Amino acid sequence: MRPLAAIVDLSAIAHNYAIAKRCAPGRQAFAVVKANAYGHGVREVVTALYDSADGFAVACLEEAAEVRAMHGEARILLLEGCFEASECAIAAQLELDLVVQSAAQAEVLIASELCRPLNVWLKLDSGMHRLGFESAELRLWHARLQDAGQVAELNLISHFACADERGHALTELQVERFLDLLDLDFNQRSLANSAAVLTIPAAHMDWLRPGIMLYGATPFADLSAHDLGLEPAMTLAAQVIAIREVADGESVGYGAAWVAQRPSRIATVSCGYADGYPRHAPSGTPVWVDGQRAPLAGRVSMDMLAVDVTDLPHVQVGSAVELWGANLPVDEVANACGTIGYELLSKVTARVPRRYVG
Ligand SMILES: Cc1ncc(COP(=O)(O)O)c(C=O)c1O
Repeated sequence: MRPLAAIVDLSAIAHNYAIAKRCAPGRQAFAVVKANAYGHGVREVVTALYDSADGFAVACLEEAAEVRAMHGEARILLLEGCFEASECAIAAQLELDLVVQSAAQAEVLIASELCRPLNVWLKLDSGMHRLGFESAELRLWHARLQDAGQVAELNLISHFACADERGHALTELQVERFLDLLDLDFNQRSLANSAAVLTIPAAHMDWLRPGIMLYGATPFADLSAHDLGLEPAMTLAAQVIAIREVADGESVGYGAAWVAQRPSRIATVSCGYADGYPRHAPSGTPVWVDGQRAPLAGRVSMDMLAVDVTDLPHVQVGSAVELWGANLPVDEVANACGTIGYELLSKVTARVPRRYVG
């Protein structure tokens, strides 16, 4: 069997969810499990949070149906709303909480015949300019939907663009725009992603929406997951499958992009870009090999990558390798690759078996 697996610690996810709740006593929290729970496996994550989570948030109806099949009771929030008119009726059958982020979605909703009224979350575009109504338009839709037969609760939701950059002026403006609407009668309010859960109490409202923090990665550039008390959930674990001695001046890998500056020992590792390790990871990106860090050497191949273990003479074929995880924060690897932990975690491909512990 190929020595590569994503080992997912479900107790870490439960621990991290509890941290989110502890940041905002008395508030409820949708665990954001879209994109296969950021790559961790939605079935297992929902099962792990079955008793503790107040609800789950997903990106689309297909994801919502998967969560509903596992959990008959939980609130499930459809973050982008319906993409087609026919989806409203299905959302009602699945008893979803439905975001309405455009006039087109609102028109479809009030024209729909539903088996039961839905909890509707009117989305405010408070400054992200991706989805949602401007304030004035949201007021009009609030008036129209307030007494609509399709609507059970009428709620307010918005999303931050820069909450991960502490003290960003746009965040303050977004909170202000949200608060300005609270003269309207809403049953529930939701604004906080992980960054706001962790650092902006004024944004906590009634329902939190933590995503990345559940998986033990940080949304911040300047605060590590460890600083925040988060436990990493995924360890991408591989092995050394070959070792070679490379003479000074010899190159390693495709494009001969890495050239030995001294007689070197190169370990070939059982993970590549078809597994989700970023192909653009530069030489020098840290890799955890047999208990220590070593630098990536040369271009990442489809199924393998190379590490310079010249300074780690104990490394041999079969030595354990961690691409990220318990010993090497995914955020550090992401930073070396010019991306964010979110991308690395959610892009671990289907061919990597997930093994669950905890
Ligand atoms: C609308 C919405 N809410 C909450 C989240 C969770 O954000 P985070 O993973 O930064 O906590 C996301 C994720 O992108 C989102 O799109």
